[in-house]
Formats: sequence, C-alpha cells, structure tokens
Amino acid sequence: MAARGLVILGAVVLCSLVAVFHGAEGIMFSDLQKTLLVSASPRPGQVLEAGADKITVTWSLNQTYQSGSTDSSYKTVELKLCYAPISQKDRPWRKTVNDNLAKDKTCQHGIVSQPYTPSNSTFSWTISRDVPTATYFIRAYAYNSQSKEVAYGQTTDAGKTTDLFEIRGISGRHVSLDVASAVFSAFSVVSLFGFFYLEKRKAKRATQEK
Ligand SMILES: *[C@@H]1O[C@H](CO)[C@@H](O)[C@H](O)[C@H]1NC(C)=O
Ligand SMILES: *[C@@H]1O[C@H](CO)[C@@H](O)[C@H](O)[C@H]1NC(C)=O
Repeated sequence: MAARGLVILGAVVLCSLVAVFHGAEGIMFSDLQKTLLVSASPRPGQVLEAGADKITVTWSLNQTYQSGSTDSSYKTVELKLCYAPISQKDRPWRKTVNDNLAKDKTCQHGIVSQPYTPSNSTFSWTISRDVPTATYFIRAYAYNSQSKEVAYGQTTDAGKTTDLFEIRGISGRHVSLDVASAVFSAFSVVSLFGFFYLEKRKAKRATQEK
C-alpha cells in the first residue's frame, strides 16, 4: 500500500517537473537578438496576388554586430510571412504570443528555410495559393542547432506599422468574381425581359394604330 502511494507520489512529482521544464522551454520573443537585416520587394501598401505575384526577400547579418561572436550559434534562417496587427484584430487564431514563440500565431506561412550565412542572401518566392487576404510583413528567424529561435529581423518596425503590404487571397478573389458574374447574369436576364416587354408593347401599339 505504502509502495503504491510512493509510486503515485513519484509520478506526480515527475509530471510537475516535466511541466515546469516544459514551461521554461518556451522561448520569448524578447529573448531574441534583433541582428538580422531583412528587406522585401513589396512597396508599402502594395497589393499582391496570391498564387501569382512574387516577393523577393534579402537578408544579412547587421554588420554592426561582430560576426563570429553573435552569430556563431546560428544554423538556419527561416523567412516567414506574418500578419500585421490590423489583420489579427478579432482573430484569436492569428494572435501574437510574445512570451512563448511555440504558441505565437503571427507568422503562419513559411517562405523558405536555408542554412545561415552572414552575407546577403536573396530568395524569390511566388506567394502560395493558400495565403489568405490580409496585411503582412516578413520576419526572418535564426535557429540554433537545437532548432530554437535565437535571433530575428523583420521588414517592419517594432510596432509593426511601417512597410506593410497586402495580399489578395485566391478564395477572396473567386468570391468577388462569383458575385460579379451573378450580378451580371441577373442584369442580363432583367434586360432580356425588359427588351421583350418593350418589343411586345411596340408590337401591340403597332397593331392598335392600324
Ligand atoms: C544594426 O545594429 C545596430 C546596433 O544594435 C543598430 O543601432 C542599427 O540600427 C542596426 N541597423 C539597422 C539597419 O537596423
Ligand atoms: C547587402 O546588400 C546591400 C544592398 O544591396 C548592401 O548595402 C550591403 O552592404 C550588403 N551587405 C553585405 C553583408 O554584403
């Protein structure tokens, strides 16, 4: 009986320890050094089309930091497309969670992941067809050999207000096209009937005048 109690107690302690360590593992955005310079081709406010338009992203190490000391742990760089605050409003599924990056939903669309180099790297990306209509910016994360985020850079300022661009999603476009064609069909049906009505009235008047 006592042995069983001990086993249960041991299991509970172990679980709590795992929970504590797991919690401590969460990387905070404020833990990351902003050492990457990132720029992208869209002009501020430009509207791009998902599945068609390209975005060219350039990134490098900010040379103000001594290369070799800061970036010695960087293994890979991943570029991501991130929602601007205006497109996160009232959408908990895009929420920013800065105190645990594993739960952060700001940057949901991966662009590319490449081995890290301090020099300029450029990548040209055709916007995926599944990217929804929203306002975006681009962020680069540097990961260490344990695939943990250690540094970042982004195309916007800290408040995420500058250099934002828009993407029009494919489904949004289809919806508006469908609406447009529905309106157009309704209009042609109405005009067809209108045409017949006018013709008929003309014919009637013609017979009356005879
Ligand atoms: C590069 O880093 C330095 C030091 O943190 C910073 O003052 C500077 O603004 C950075 N350069 C750019 C272009 O962000
Ligand atoms: C990267 O390219 C920019 C502009 O093309 C240039 O100003 C900068 O010096 C380059 N940086 C490196 C590390 O080559």
